[in-house]
Amino acid sequence: MKSIASAPGKIILFGEHFVVHGTKAILAAIDKRVTVTSTFTENKTIKVNSQLGTIEVPISSSHEEVKSEFRPFVYLANRLMTNSDKVWHPGNFHFFNRCSGLEITIDSDIPIGVGLGSSSACCVAATASIFGLFKELSSEEILKISIEAEKTIFPDTSGADCTVCTYGGMIEYPNIKKIDNIFDLNLLIANSMIPHNTKNSVEKVNKFKENDEDRFSKLCDLENGLIDEVIIAMKNNDSTTFGLKMSENQKYLEEIQVSNDTLRGMISSLKEISLGTKITGAGDGGCVIALVKDENMDKAPTLLPKDKECFSAKIDTKGVVRSTIEE
Ligand code: PMV
Repeated sequence: MKSIASAPGKIILFGEHFVVHGTKAILAAIDKRVTVTSTFTENKTIKVNSQLGTIEVPISSSHEEVKSEFRPFVYLANRLMTNSDKVWHPGNFHFFNRCSGLEITIDSDIPIGVGLGSSSACCVAATASIFGLFKELSSEEILKISIEAEKTIFPDTSGADCTVCTYGGMIEYPNIKKIDNIFDLNLLIANSMIPHNTKNSVEKVNKFKENDEDRFSKLCDLENGLIDEVIIAMKNNDSTTFGLKMSENQKYLEEIQVSNDTLRGMISSLKEISLGTKITGAGDGGCVIALVKDENMDKAPTLLPKDKECFSAKIDTKGVVRSTIEE
């Protein structure tokens, strides 16, 4: 049997970094997906195939023994095989004597390491796919386990990314409230093509906080207030205010020093066609998002430097999706 699950990538519209320190955030799932296929094998190994390479380790290996990008898959495979979540009945044990390994294959169209949720979508899809060999988990179970898997790479994760990859749509975090009936958001994603490291950026923000607790706390209050205003703007179909709030949020991100000259250059290039532009995700590279009027979408590539990529994003409403193929 093949257990297949896919999950969408994401953008953070408002609240990245501050959400790690307890503020609200608004995120949306996007129409780029990762698909994870899991099968039992007879090899007593965990084999992971991805764009980043292939590993094959003995079934008893700990996730700490493998390179960080493979850790969540080894962690999840171990968790299934040791049955710590009691998803299989001991009556299945004879099956394990014969089929005692796992092969996990990842196919993704989410760019890696640029803040579009590739790692979270992998954790969500892998949880649903690997556990799906025995049991169809509920969304709540997938979310809980996938956050634990993501913590094997990034222990301080806010959990916001896995949440939107699991449920899809646009959500307010942390209360996981779906935001419906919003005006037609024309979101442009522009990739700086500079990979970033979320852990390093989050540590940098922690240092900023340590150096100036009062200002950081004020910025958190401002972020929460801004998100309340964005929710009202969406209820009023007010894209102008929505765009202005994106640019205001960017100022807070500049202040906590997760921007750089390349990102500032891209934001400034897109200014003439956008209602608002900001970093999405950890910053220090990665992507910027812009709210652009439909008629101006085609102009974006001509405004950006030639070495940058851009595309328009549609909001994914499905979240994680699972299926099985009997062989
Ligand atoms: O760039 P990404 O996709 O790794 O997003 C990180 C978002 C942060 O707020 C910086 C961290 C988090 O866990 O929320």
